[in-house]
Amino acid sequence: MLIALAATAAAMDPSGWPVLGGVLIAGALIGAMVASRVQMTSMPELVAILHSFVGLAAVLVGFGTYLDKFAAGKAVEDPGILLIEIFIGVCIGSITFTGSVIAFLKLKGSISGKPLMLPARHMINIIMLLITIGLGVAFFISPDVQSGQWPLLVATILTGILGIHFIMAIGGADMPVVVSMLNSYSGWAAAAAGFMLSNDLLIITGALVGSSGAILSYIMCRGMNRSFISVMLGGFGTEGGSTASADSQPAGEVRSIDAASTADMLKQAKKVIIVPGYGLAVAQAQHSLAEVVKILKEGGTEVKFAIHPVAGRLPGHMNVLLAEANIPYDIVFEMEEINDEFAGTDISWVIGANDIVNPSALDDPNSPIAGMPVLHVWEARNTVVMKRSMASGYAGVDNPLFYKDNTLMLFGDAKKVVDEILTAMRG
Ligand code: TAP
Repeated sequence: MLIALAATAAAMDPSGWPVLGGVLIAGALIGAMVASRVQMTSMPELVAILHSFVGLAAVLVGFGTYLDKFAAGKAVEDPGILLIEIFIGVCIGSITFTGSVIAFLKLKGSISGKPLMLPARHMINIIMLLITIGLGVAFFISPDVQSGQWPLLVATILTGILGIHFIMAIGGADMPVVVSMLNSYSGWAAAAAGFMLSNDLLIITGALVGSSGAILSYIMCRGMNRSFISVMLGGFGTEGGSTASADSQPAGEVRSIDAASTADMLKQAKKVIIVPGYGLAVAQAQHSLAEVVKILKEGGTEVKFAIHPVAGRLPGHMNVLLAEANIPYDIVFEMEEINDEFAGTDISWVIGANDIVNPSALDDPNSPIAGMPVLHVWEARNTVVMKRSMASGYAGVDNPLFYKDNTLMLFGDAKKVVDEILTAMRG
């Protein structure tokens, strides 16, 4: 970005420098302030809103290029190709802009994370797409800017609505994939803007962002065992026959335990596997947890961490969290490496995790998360699940793990309870 900014400044008329400097300083200050303040758990929101800026920029560049290059009396080299680039760039930019704003609002909780399921929604999308293509033809054959600006404007609005509708139909649990897909779109929008401006750097960086976003989306889909197409078609986690917990309400008793007894149990265990989840990040309990781990290891207990690929709210979220607390990396294991070890473990200790340890993903074909690989914590001799209530996790699915005979629930805020365990262990 620095090279691009320097090259832009060098190429432009020096009379424009004060304006460029002004907007750059203002933008850099706002960006630095927002990014330094953001919590790790709110990172997807920030990324989503930043993508919306890329989309908006692509729309503005498209209109600017069109109105400038095709103004009356100007000769354009290869007008056909430029017109196609402008139209595609503006449409992708508009979808990215509105889609990212909706993703931002959903992640922030300003609008419901539930998918909006309009009847015949796929048909509505296809019709909007076909009208956009028609508008593209009208734009292409328009004799001048006066007549060509209207189809471009209508297509911008229509693809903007398409972006809103597209993302509204996608449920909360699939939002991470959507954010990374929008990341990919914003890259393609930037690459399209690069073609319009004949800017190789923008084309290359846009293509890099576009393809890396697509690869990341694919990796996340694999982590949740969902196909990319099914995520994009939306509707996950609601109606469609498998409403969360409607027909498979797990029955049974819940056994709870307090912090002091948990401390005793942990001390007596030979092997403990800790499963961190979103709640650990929210409570910021990683530092106290690191202390507990230290005491356990000093007492001769073997302690390992099991990391699910979509634990938390970001790829690598848990790894970053544990690294922050200086938890040694050689005791942190990925799901595939450690899943077979639960069977020989005394205690699996689940901290603020829910969906990633839900056995119904394996047992219940009607569950909305059926087929998602999960950590087999219930295979340990005892499982201690630490969370504040019986509430469901991100996917809104009930968790039969809480009702298993060898599960003990330890209710409370993760930070507060880990601190209590630490005090009990020291005492
Ligand atoms: P979740 O299924 O969301 O469960 C987290 C649990 O933490 C909640 O059930 C909540 O229960 C508990 N909790 C919240 N605040 C707490 C606190 N202060 N102290 C103690 N517990 C607290 O999280 P997970 O198991 O990590 O699974 C991740 C989910 O997010 C998956 O569904 C995944 O698909 C989705 N997702 C993943 C990503 C990526 S890429 N990692 C991004 C977005 C979404 P209480 O309310 O009862 O405390």
